[in-house]
Amino acid sequence: IYHQNTYLSGGELKHWEGDTAEVYSTISSTEKYRPTLLGTVPQLGEEEAMDSLNSAVSAYDNGKGLWPTMKVVDRIACMEKFVKQMKTKRDEVVKFIMWEIGKNLPDAEKEFDRTVDYIYDTIEDYKQLDRDSAKFQKNSGVYAHIRRGPLGVVLCLGPYNYPLNETFTLLIPALMMGNTVIFKPAKLGVLLISPLLEAFQNSFPKGVVNVIYGRGRVLATPIMKSGKVDVLALIGNSKSANALQAQHPKGNRLRMVLGLEAKNPAIVLPDADLDLAVEECITGTLSFNGQRCTALKVVYVHESVVEEFNRRFSYKVDQLKFGNPWEPGVKLTPLPEVEKPAFIQELIDDALAKGAKILNDKGGKLTENFIFPAVLYPVSKDMRVFKEEQFGPVIPVVPFSDIDEPLDDMARSDYGQQVSLFGKNVQTLSPLIDTLVNLVCRVNLNSSCQRGPDVYPFTGRKDSAFGTLSVHDALRSFSIRTFVASKDN
Ligand code: G3H
Repeated sequence: IYHQNTYLSGGELKHWEGDTAEVYSTISSTEKYRPTLLGTVPQLGEEEAMDSLNSAVSAYDNGKGLWPTMKVVDRIACMEKFVKQMKTKRDEVVKFIMWEIGKNLPDAEKEFDRTVDYIYDTIEDYKQLDRDSAKFQKNSGVYAHIRRGPLGVVLCLGPYNYPLNETFTLLIPALMMGNTVIFKPAKLGVLLISPLLEAFQNSFPKGVVNVIYGRGRVLATPIMKSGKVDVLALIGNSKSANALQAQHPKGNRLRMVLGLEAKNPAIVLPDADLDLAVEECITGTLSFNGQRCTALKVVYVHESVVEEFNRRFSYKVDQLKFGNPWEPGVKLTPLPEVEKPAFIQELIDDALAKGAKILNDKGGKLTENFIFPAVLYPVSKDMRVFKEEQFGPVIPVVPFSDIDEPLDDMARSDYGQQVSLFGKNVQTLSPLIDTLVNLVCRVNLNSSCQRGPDVYPFTGRKDSAFGTLSVHDALRSFSIRTFVASKDN
C-alpha cells in the first residue's frame, strides 16, 4: 500500500494529515481481477487549492515573475533538469500505469518513453522558436522583432487513459512558454505522478508547478471562480470543460486548450484489402480496450464485403488475449472504471433489443471488472452504441451501400476528430479525401486512427477539441505573439 501524503504547492512538498482518498488497482494478484487497494492520496480542500493557485499567481506576477522573464537558455536548463530526473523514475511510473489503469506493459513503457521524447522535442522546438524570433522583419518602414510570450496561470487537468502522457502534452508546453501551472492529476492514474513531485520541486522555481490532489469539484470550482486562471488546459469531456468555463467570471474570454470526445469512424470500401482493414480495425477499436479518444468507435463496411469482413474481424477479436498487464502477449486488460462494464452492457442490451446481434463467441462475457469486446451487427442509427462514445470494448459495425451514408453521418455528428479510410482505387479515394478533410482533422489512409507521431497537429472539429496540441502547435497554443517595433533596425 502506497501512501502519498504530500502535495506540491509554492515550491514546498507539503505534508498532509487531513482526509485521504483510496486509490484502487484495476488488477490483483488473484485470478479474480477484482480491484484491490493500492494506496491513498490527499483529499485537499478549498483552502489548499486557493493557496496553490495563489502560489502560481505570485510566481507569474503578472508576467514580471522570475519564470516568465527567465532567459530562454535558463528555462531550457530547468526543463532539461526535470526530464533527466524524471527518467530515473521510469520503472516506478510504468508500474503505477499498469496497476492503476491496467495498461499493458509495452503500452505503459511506450507512454513513459513517448512523454520523455515529447519533452526533448518541445525543448528543440522552443529553441527554433527562439531562433526565429531573433529575425527582424520590416513592413511599411517599421521594423518588428516578433516573439512569443506566456499567457499567465494555467489550470491543467488530464485524463485517466494517458495519465502521464496526455497530461504532460499540456503541462510541458505551458511551462516551456513561461506560464505557471496548477495541475490536478486524474482520479484514476493519480499515484503515478507521486514519483515525479521531487523532480518538479528541484527543477523549477517556487510556485511555477503546483500539484494538488482531491475532487475536481472541490478544487477546480473555487480556482475557476477566482477569475485568476488565464488558461484552462483540459483533456477529458466537454461537459466538464463547459462547466469549468462557465465558472470563470469572464468565461467567454477564458483561453482554453481542450482535447475532448470523438466518435472516429472507419470506412471500408468495396476494393479494400480486407486483411489489412481487419488488422487495423482491431488495433483501432481495441488498443487499451478502446479507451482512447482516437479509438475507432464505429466501423462502416460496404455491403458487398461486410459478410467477409465480419467473419474475419470477429474471429480475430476472439483471439485477443485477456490478462494482467505484465503478462506477455496480453492485449485486453481489466477496466479501471468500475462502472464501465455495466455501461458497455447497457449499450449491448440496447443494440440487441433493436435488432443487432453479437457476432463473436466471446463477445459480452463478463469477468469482474472486464467485459469481453462484443462485435455488434447490423448497427443502426437508433441504437445508443451508434451515437454515444463508448470509450470501451464494444464495436458497432454498420453496413452501407452508398458512400454518402457515412459522409452524411459524419457531417451531422457532434464530433470531428479523425477517420480511417480503407480502399485502393486512387480515383475513388482522392475526391473522398477532399471531403473528409473538411469533416475531421486527420484522414488515415489504410490505417487506424492515432494521435502520433507527436510532431503532427492533434486537434478536432466541433465538440472534439479546441486549440491544437502536438509539439509545435502546443507551444503556440500556450503563448501569444508579441513584438517590439522600431523605426530603426
Ligand atoms: O485518448 C486520446 C489519446 O490522445 C490517444 O492517443 O492515438 O496515441 O493512443 P493515441
